[in-house]
Amino acid sequence: AADRQVLVASNRGPVSFTSAEDGTLSMRRGGGGLVSGLAGVAAGNGGNRPIWVCAALSDADRQAARQAPDGRLDKAGHDTGGACVRMLDIPASTFHRAYNGVANSTLWFVHHLLYDTPNAPHFDARARRDWQSYEAYNAAFADALARDAEPGARAAIQDYHLSLAPRMLRERRPDLKIAHFSHTPWAPPEYYRLLPDDLGVQVLEGILGADHAGFLARRWADAFMDCCETLLHAKVDRTAGTVHHKGRTTRIGVHGLGVDGDDLIARAAQPDVAERARALREQVGDRQLIVRIDRTELSKNIVRGLAAYREMLANHPEWHGRVVHLAFAYPSRQDLAEYRDYTAAVERTAAQIREEFGTPAWDPLILQVKDDYARTLAAYGMADVLLVNPIRDGMNLVAKEGPVLSRRGCALVLSREAGAAADLGEDALLVNPYDVSQTAETLHRALLMPPDERAERCRRLAAAATALPPRRWFADQLAALD
Ligand code: G6P
Repeated sequence: AADRQVLVASNRGPVSFTSAEDGTLSMRRGGGGLVSGLAGVAAGNGGNRPIWVCAALSDADRQAARQAPDGRLDKAGHDTGGACVRMLDIPASTFHRAYNGVANSTLWFVHHLLYDTPNAPHFDARARRDWQSYEAYNAAFADALARDAEPGARAAIQDYHLSLAPRMLRERRPDLKIAHFSHTPWAPPEYYRLLPDDLGVQVLEGILGADHAGFLARRWADAFMDCCETLLHAKVDRTAGTVHHKGRTTRIGVHGLGVDGDDLIARAAQPDVAERARALREQVGDRQLIVRIDRTELSKNIVRGLAAYREMLANHPEWHGRVVHLAFAYPSRQDLAEYRDYTAAVERTAAQIREEFGTPAWDPLILQVKDDYARTLAAYGMADVLLVNPIRDGMNLVAKEGPVLSRRGCALVLSREAGAAADLGEDALLVNPYDVSQTAETLHRALLMPPDERAERCRRLAAAATALPPRRWFADQLAALD
């Protein structure tokens, strides 16, 4: 079984392109938890390299996909990090409706309980049209996988963009072993039922087209089974971890994802990171440093995190001049108005804090919205406190990367609603992400934690963070198919 071909499918692939004025394409690595997890894995080892099917996300990507022989980026001489990458040239309007309309405005909002947002999710004629594009987009993946797969191959389909693809692929190729993996939380039935009934059913039945459905934490797997029971009246066996529906059985698995410590440490040892660290040290001086690193993403709860920092400064003036908050909020999904508004709200809140507390000698907050991976790694190394406070998060790899790279032994203030809390809860300081005052007091406590206690906890956090490296996570998914 181990030598059967492996295919991976995800919306975002390991690389993406931008095009210069003169039309030349340049390539960069993809971001986010899913790609970080899969990048090393899909390079494979030796002869039997997996095929990674992904979508072209932009005009530049579509151009690169069209120029590559048979859509295969690796065959076009691009350095894809060893992976065989098939980039699907899906028409721009179909892609936009599937990705922005359905995946990011609807499914993402439902699974992350983003109910305090004025306009999403909502369902009208336009949402129906977007849904047809989501079906077409999923069908494009199922077609590509069906074409590329050798008899009996194993296909690992990733995330909420591709919830219909497992069932579609099974219809085309009943001989394959199919896994689906969710990198997000899963909504409980009471919230999942926000989806129009027929669409909610399609998503569940789409995933149940797989032989194995994987989740990052027990909570999300349980919520999925609850939805199958409530909405499909499927037969759920929690002890065995199976869902039986319409004559088929899907196994449900929990596969936590951590980081590869050696890879991360090697990357952080590069000269560009040392250079960023020097520049940051100059800005921060010998003050204590609270670091947060996120995509500018509503579920990351950045505004409440900043409000907590503000409340801490207001309640504990002894920190004035002695602490700096470094907040990196990298641009994300800027096609959506909710995300643009959120970015503006983050910037506004940050400006208010600087205005209220800043002095000529002390800048209490440095907000950076430009993506810079080397600076991220430098910031991890310098952090005294790492703040990770999402409303909900499938896993959250920032909480795992930080302790591995911390040089000073950082304290981790972590939302109890992140999947990572199940793996790191013993040594992190857990908070309710909605409770700004509790978060403020916990930041204060974290800053006061004695250095040796901080270092001891940080060592254990790093050990827990590296216990499930991506290779193992992926191998477990495949093993569950055999
Ligand atoms: C989350 C999702 C991934 C996604 C990533 C970045 O981690 O689970 O599927 O790739 O966010 O979001 P983006 O929309 O930029 O791909």
